[in-house]
Amino acid sequence: MNPLDPNRLPVHLAVIMDGNGRWAQQRMLKRVIGHQRGAETVKMVVEQASLLGIKYLTLFAFSSENWSRPALEVRALMTLLKKYIRQETGRMMRKNIRYNVIGNRSELPEDVNETLDEAIRKTADNSGMVLTLALSYGGRQELCRAAEQLVEDAVAGRISSKNINTEIFESYLDTGGLPDPDFLIRTSGEMRISNFLLWQLAYTELYFTETNWPDFTISELHKALADFQSRERRFGKTGDQIAQRGTLLNA
Ligand code: IPE
Ligand code: IPE
Ligand code: MG
Repeated sequence: MNPLDPNRLPVHLAVIMDGNGRWAQQRMLKRVIGHQRGAETVKMVVEQASLLGIKYLTLFAFSSENWSRPALEVRALMTLLKKYIRQETGRMMRKNIRYNVIGNRSELPEDVNETLDEAIRKTADNSGMVLTLALSYGGRQELCRAAEQLVEDAVAGRISSKNINTEIFESYLDTGGLPDPDFLIRTSGEMRISNFLLWQLAYTELYFTETNWPDFTISELHKALADFQSRERRFGKTGDQIAQRGTLLNA
């Protein structure tokens, strides 16, 4: 495999980590074991992304809709999340990684929020990769929360409806301040977005692999990134326009 071009990596990599349950069920194990193994893959991807120099990594860890899973699984996921954050904060400090969270935090249990707050506070001054965890996150819910805040600001006279444009609207989203993802990886063979980053994925390159999340490896990550590097991103322009720009840049 060709080595990756360090100058053409995604600035922002987003991942829908899927297939933990099926990984476990195929092995006659409880779904929660799949989530535990999935947490090991998270460690690997975080470390690799930071080593490669990716600036933003966003992981879909728990969706708004995942609250409808059996209570036992939801509890196990919350416990695992807390344990993961506590265990990994030291490593985040050593690797200069900053924690960030998107999603409706008011739906998370208090102890989880306390753990998150502490990790966010401790890593706040780190200047390396920004690791964003999407927790109790749904794209439609995020858009509704943004609209709610926008209307409040308009009613209070802080903003005029005449001034609303994509930049202003974006600043009301949970991801305000983050660039849009360049590349999205989803594991486990499902080819859907499942209410993840609906606004932000407008021009993201999508990559789907059959591999379940606990089996996702460094070499698969590199393969996905190599695929990203082979793509031509046009943003509505023609291929000729893009090629011309490339020539000018290389001149
Ligand atoms: C992803 O794995 C983890 C979460 C959604 C929390 P799943 O738990 O969705 O695994 P499958 O899709 O049932 O195999
Ligand atoms: C999406 O996976 C959410 C996360 C990975 C956290 P799901 O497993 O919940 O998605 P669906 O239900 O298969 O679309
Ligand atoms: Mg799933």
